[in-house]
Order: sequence, then C-alpha cells, then structure tokens
Amino acid sequence: MGNGKLTMSDETQNRDGKELSISPRHVAMIMDGNGRWARQRGLPRLAGHEAGTETVRRVMNYCRDAGVRYLTLYAFSTENWSRPLEEVTGLMTLLGTFIRKHEEELIEKQVRLRVIGNRADIPAPLMAEIERIERTTAHFERQVIIALSYSGRSELVRAVRKIAERVRDGSLAPESVDEGVVAAHLDAPDVPDPDLIVRTSGEMRVSNFLLWQCAYSEFHVTPVLWPDFGEKDFTEALEAFAKRSRRFGGV
Ligand code: IPE
Ligand code: IPE
Ligand code: MG
Repeated sequence: MGNGKLTMSDETQNRDGKELSISPRHVAMIMDGNGRWARQRGLPRLAGHEAGTETVRRVMNYCRDAGVRYLTLYAFSTENWSRPLEEVTGLMTLLGTFIRKHEEELIEKQVRLRVIGNRADIPAPLMAEIERIERTTAHFERQVIIALSYSGRSELVRAVRKIAERVRDGSLAPESVDEGVVAAHLDAPDVPDPDLIVRTSGEMRVSNFLLWQCAYSEFHVTPVLWPDFGEKDFTEALEAFAKRSRRFGGV
C-alpha cells in the first residue's frame, strides 16, 4: 500500500487538472464504537463486535455498488492485544467465523481478500485459513484488505527491516532509498493510498492507522457507532468526500 505517488481517485481529474467529484477509489474505515454500542444495550462487549461484523458485510456491498475498488478495514490494532484475554480471543473467533461464512460470497462477487499487519501475531489456524482464502481470491481485482494486528508504526518498522536486509545483502544502496523504496516495502505495496478514511464513533484521532499512506487522505468522522453505520452514513461520507477540494500541496 502507498506506492509513493500521490495518486487521485478514479477519474477525479479533468484536463485542467481540476477535481471532479466522483467516488473514491480506496476507502479505509476505522471501525470504532462496538463496545459503546453494547454498553448502551447492557450487553457484553463481544455482542457489539458481533453486531459489527454485520456492518462489515453491509459496507462491503455499499462499496461494490459505489464502484470503490479497495476497501481497507481496521479490524484489530497492535495495541488491541492489551485488551482482556476474553475479548481478544472472542474477536479472533469472530473473525474466523466471518471469513468462513463469507468465503463463497467473496468468490461469487469476485473480491480479493488480503491482510495487512503482523502475521506472526495471529493464531496459526486462523492465519492458515486467511492465507488459503488470500490464495483462492488472489486473481480478483476488487479488494477488501483487513488490517489485523496492524499499526502504522509497526508496518513502517517491518518495511525498515526489509530495506536494511537489502542494504546488508548489497542489493540496495543506502542513497537509493527514497519514498518509492519505502512504499514498496509496506505490507500491500501495490495498493494505492486511501482517498478517504472514515472513522465511526466520533473520535478525532488516527489510532496508528495507515500512517504512511494517509499523507493526503481525506478524513470523515461520524458520531454513529460502527454497528449502527448504514447506507445513509456511507452515502454521507461519499458526499462529504465529493465536496472536498484535494490540492495535494498544490494551488
Ligand atoms: C472497535 O470497537 C473494534 C475494535 C477495536 C476491535 P471498540 O471495541 O473499540 O469499541 P469502543 O471504542 O470501546 O466503543
Ligand atoms: C482503533 O480503535 C482500532 C480499530 C478500530 C481496530 P480503538 O478503539 O482501538 O482506538 P482508540 O483506543 O480509541 O484510539
Ligand atoms: Mg474503540
């Protein structure tokens, strides 16, 4: 992800280089507020996460209908490992159930599933299942990218290590390291930077998400909690995006 070029969403430029309002090519979502949704109902936090998986399914469909080619979902951060064990194992179980349940649908709808994050942290049986689905869907063009045991900083550390290895083995000179080289060593280097990042539940922070890739992303924060996020909220986010004037540092 983050090929180093400050690219624009599909067909967003006319011949004068002016922006036209059209849907984003890559939408990334910080899916927040499951715990509060559950608490409001007197339910355990896991009930909120379970309700949140239904939203994931809906959002995948909204993206397809809107012609969004890449959807990245922040499902579990490296910091989320500090949550109570019961919640962590519950989340991993939910994720496994979700991908098994929707595997056929992904294939039928021609969606490529992939994961970014520290794969070594993920329980081996779950990772094996994810990798199997990654392989069977690898040829599809539309993508759903799940950020799992992910943080922007840890992704950059992984990239720096890979680059350091190449410098050590002599295949890369230190002076050749530029933005393109850094971007090429991220977890999903072929994926363009997100045009739009949406965060639910009202928090105005980035929580270690896509730190390199968000350089020129547009942000949209909605107070709606993730399990309640619906089509109207998605449309509102796309409309807000369409009204933005993206200048990428230009005039
Ligand atoms: C987001 O919901 C899901 C994950 C981080 C896994 P939260 O669990 O953070 O919900 P709140 O923020 O406590 O409401
Ligand atoms: C961000 O939500 C991470 C995910 C959505 C997976 P958190 O709930 O973990 O973030 P903070 O604690 O509000 O920053
Ligand atoms: Mg939260």
